[in-house]
Amino acid sequence: MNKRILLIGACGQIGSELTLRLRELHGNKAVIAADIREGTKELMESGPFERLDALDREAVRQVIETYGIQEVYLMAAMLSATGEKYPEKAWQLNMGTLFNILDLAKEGLIKKVFWPSSIAVFGPSTPKENTPQETVMEPETVYGISKQTGERWCAYYFRKYGVDVRSIRYPGIISWKTLPGGGTTDYAVEIYHNALLIGKYHSFLRKDTRLPMMYMDDAIEATIRIMESAPENIKVRSSYNIAAMSFTPEEIAAEIKRIVPEFTIKYREDFRQTIADGWPRSIDDSKAREDWGWAHRFDLKKMSEHMLQSLYKRYDEV
Ligand code: SER
Repeated sequence: MNKRILLIGACGQIGSELTLRLRELHGNKAVIAADIREGTKELMESGPFERLDALDREAVRQVIETYGIQEVYLMAAMLSATGEKYPEKAWQLNMGTLFNILDLAKEGLIKKVFWPSSIAVFGPSTPKENTPQETVMEPETVYGISKQTGERWCAYYFRKYGVDVRSIRYPGIISWKTLPGGGTTDYAVEIYHNALLIGKYHSFLRKDTRLPMMYMDDAIEATIRIMESAPENIKVRSSYNIAAMSFTPEEIAAEIKRIVPEFTIKYREDFRQTIADGWPRSIDDSKAREDWGWAHRFDLKKMSEHMLQSLYKRYDEV
């Protein structure tokens, strides 16, 4: 029998594409999607779906036992911008769900766990250019604090209890299928939609705010690759830096303008500027490249072409 995989947070931005890719690789029935809400038709109809509150440990246990799950991808989280509005809820959700899964793995109920971390683990005192794998980490957002703490717990559960948990620090993720929600890097998705729909965009970040970003195809590839690597190759058990590109709102706007010449952009910063100002401008991911062969494929140009083509087709069909 194929291995059985549970994806929690399957209807979110990354979860929805990861579920479909894992179903392609392992068969539709082997990948169980779970979320507190329903997702797209494609996701709901392509395989099993369970409505699940990941904070309810017994409900999670039941799904794992019913389907005989071996691997869990825990993609449910409250991101940086929403987290600043609901700090207590963000902390409870981000930590509570992680402990549920780590403890079920410690019991031996599941064999392998993927848990995403983020560039938000870094803070204003971190070196901003080529941020190293190991460096000063003083995050200032609740989201960042929860991810940094989570990383320490992952490393702890691996060391103390042998839990095979693997993690990468995602940069801002850009995709066309499902919108992100509540993040600081979301502007880099909205901008493409607005370019096609209304030809203009108001950026909530200043034009020179450089942040690390990645196209969804690369993020999915990284996630699957780290999970499929031999355990001895996973030498970092907190979380790995990974990178693909870094750009500013002004640079992405120029790239879009190349394809949509009438596109215009204005800048009106809000509270998310302060969050972005505390994050790295570029990331050194050499450790991930060395340890488990990480390599990206998409740069700003290739991504923009792919994004705009895909969105154009979608809006044209509606
Ligand atoms: N995309 C996330 C955010 O902006 C960063 O991990 O919150």
